[in-house]
Amino acid sequence: MAFSRPRLSVVGAGFVGSTVAQRMADKELGDITLIDIVPDMPKGKALDMFESSPVERFDAKITGSNEIKDVKGSDVVVVTSGIARKPGMSRDDLLKTNAGIVNGVIDAVKEHAPNAILIMVTNPLDVMTFLAHKRSGFPKNRVLGMAGVLDSARMASFVAEALNVSVKDISPMVLGGHGDTMVPLPRYTTVSGIPITDLLPQDKIDAINKRTQNGGAEIVNLLKTGSAYYAPGSSVVAMVESIVKDQRRILPACVLLEGEYGLKGSWQGVPCVLGRNGLEKIIELKLNDAEKALLARSNEHVAKAIEECKQVLGL
Ligand code: NAI
Ligand code: 2OP
Repeated sequence: MAFSRPRLSVVGAGFVGSTVAQRMADKELGDITLIDIVPDMPKGKALDMFESSPVERFDAKITGSNEIKDVKGSDVVVVTSGIARKPGMSRDDLLKTNAGIVNGVIDAVKEHAPNAILIMVTNPLDVMTFLAHKRSGFPKNRVLGMAGVLDSARMASFVAEALNVSVKDISPMVLGGHGDTMVPLPRYTTVSGIPITDLLPQDKIDAINKRTQNGGAEIVNLLKTGSAYYAPGSSVVAMVESIVKDQRRILPACVLLEGEYGLKGSWQGVPCVLGRNGLEKIIELKLNDAEKALLARSNEHVAKAIEECKQVLGL
């Protein structure tokens, strides 16, 4: 019988991509190919990571490449390639540029790794996940966007801090798009099974919700250039691990809704069972009227962004 390790590709060897590769290697999730257009840079990062393996004691082959065709045969492809908005660039310009990059990557994945599960990371996340699904023609179970794990991790960090308890006991829940309209759900955020609504006063919960929604901007303001990558990297790896080990963890991911939560044709972050087939199942939470209204607002926001994308790209 032939045994082989999962084949994992990361496209974009920038801050997020290289953090993802490093953490996947540390966890021995599979053999890794790190791809970027900057000449030789991904090869340098891959070699450097491989040379850490005798010290960290992990077994993983890590290869760097400037050739997108090297996604060949991947089981999972994580897409982080893109550019950040530059001075003088409109949102439409950014959208066009990142959409062009993502389309090129998706075409290559379709050709060389037609059975891969895609995990999109490039922003605007919900729009790029929609685009990857449309361009690839892959079934919805193989096109996932990473944002909810990150947004939930931020919420969990703030809850742990507010209660002065271990982060390990916190099960956070954030739904919706990856933006200001995301929907932190305090009723479904628990500490060892206890909802935080029983543990924290409303003003503290409101502050945690707001900080969660602004989590990305908070890091950008501190870094001055670039955006977060440690927590995003860990969040992607949690999804990859659940898939390649068929753990069937329930993690929030941006997926296509076809009636769940009363939404049809929408791309939204919702709790999903992630396993060997990618999206195994969408979990529908019972939302109250206020929570439903917040999810509807988030959905409107994402739907508008997707419409704009369709117009800009002439889709
Ligand atoms: P970065 O600028 O460090 O890395 C992006 C890399 O993509 C660069 O190395 C660039 O050379 C590469 N690239 C550009 N075109 C390419 C192509 N055609 N093929 C291969 N590589 C290409 O940026 P960073 O910090 O790694 O962020 C990456 C993306 O992830 C950004 O769009 C960022 O906004 C997004 N992001 C999304 C998060 C989420 O929760 N979904 C969280 C954090 C970042
Ligand atoms: C974040 O939330 C930039 O989307 C990225 O940190």
